Amino acid sequence: MEEASCQPVRAEAGLFLRVLDGEVAAKPPLWLMRQAGRYLPEYRELRATAPSFLDLCYDPKRATEVTLQPIRRFGFDAAILFSDILVIPDALGLPVAFEGGHGPRLRPVTTAADLAELRDEVDMGRLAPVLETVERVRSALDAGTALIGFCGAPFTVASYMVAGQGTPDQGPARELAYREPDLFAALIERITAASVASLSAQLDAGADAVMVFDSWAGVLPRLEYERWSQGPIERLVTEVKVRHPAARIVGFPRVSGGQLIRAAGSGVTALGIDTIVDPGWAHAVLPPGLPVQGNLDPKALVTGGRALDEAVDDIRGAFRDRPHVFNLGHGITPETPIAHVERLVARLRA
Ligand code: CP3
Repeated sequence: MEEASCQPVRAEAGLFLRVLDGEVAAKPPLWLMRQAGRYLPEYRELRATAPSFLDLCYDPKRATEVTLQPIRRFGFDAAILFSDILVIPDALGLPVAFEGGHGPRLRPVTTAADLAELRDEVDMGRLAPVLETVERVRSALDAGTALIGFCGAPFTVASYMVAGQGTPDQGPARELAYREPDLFAALIERITAASVASLSAQLDAGADAVMVFDSWAGVLPRLEYERWSQGPIERLVTEVKVRHPAARIVGFPRVSGGQLIRAAGSGVTALGIDTIVDPGWAHAVLPPGLPVQGNLDPKALVTGGRALDEAVDDIRGAFRDRPHVFNLGHGITPETPIAHVERLVARLRA
């Protein structure tokens, strides 16, 4: 009894959290970005009962069920809250709609007048159902399975707010940032503060770790990356840690190339690595002991068979001497066969 009480947290924590805390595991823990989603028939069935994707995000009972679906089916080491990075603009007073599989639609924010129409601070009432989902999921999971909360990085969220939709290269936000840096900085600042409030509340509600998705970091050259991606993420991490000094925060600067090295210095606990990063290079250049997460090509998972096995073994080999959480390099796609996910789990746990 006494021995166990010496280190109650570590003894209780599952493999995912131990790896984020620096353990090099013989078999890496596993979860998949977008693991709750359209490749699962049980998701499609439940999704059909909600008027829209966002309605599902704001329905704690159903969002809890969707979050748990992939855990029940595959026994992943971590669950990720079912929500979206765009609930932040929604809670800042900029309504977000997802229409018929077309991706998000928002009223574009491109002028000082547009910015003035947003709330100064995030409406925590709007986020209340999301936080209730965190509480419900945490109490439904066993102690060995972690719960990951998340937000989008300020630049990535801003890029959707400026364009009002998804674009191939987030050109509208990049141009606004060059043309009107003060306006863009004010927008980034608003999103950063809202994200600090959201992540802190998710940690209070029971999230064991949080992830910051910077899906569009890769469109920014160095100076712009430092200004709009790296700097705001550093502030976000610092401010979350004021309220939660032990918070585990995973950064994910997608397609940021060599800027991954800079991202490692932003105070994050671990780094998500996207598909095109050479894992051997990442291991060589990142600080020793920094945990990484990734980076299987979602297409290898769609394909399955030997192509999948080879890709899995290559990544595992590269990160065998470093704390490593196995994951995809970007979200799982709807056409992924469930049998291939089962094959991946079996190979990693064998
Ligand atoms: O399972 C999980 O990973 C948790 C939930 C989650 C979703 N989106 C659910 C979702 C998470 C972590 C996200 C993050 C997110 N959302 C990102 C960053 C990661 C990335 O993919 O780059 C971004 C850029 C968004 C914004 C967003 N949400 C877009 C552009 C789209 C449309 C494209 C698409 O895949 O449909 C979404 C919709 C979305 N978010 C769906 C899901 C399950 C599909 C909606 C549906 O079921 O109809």
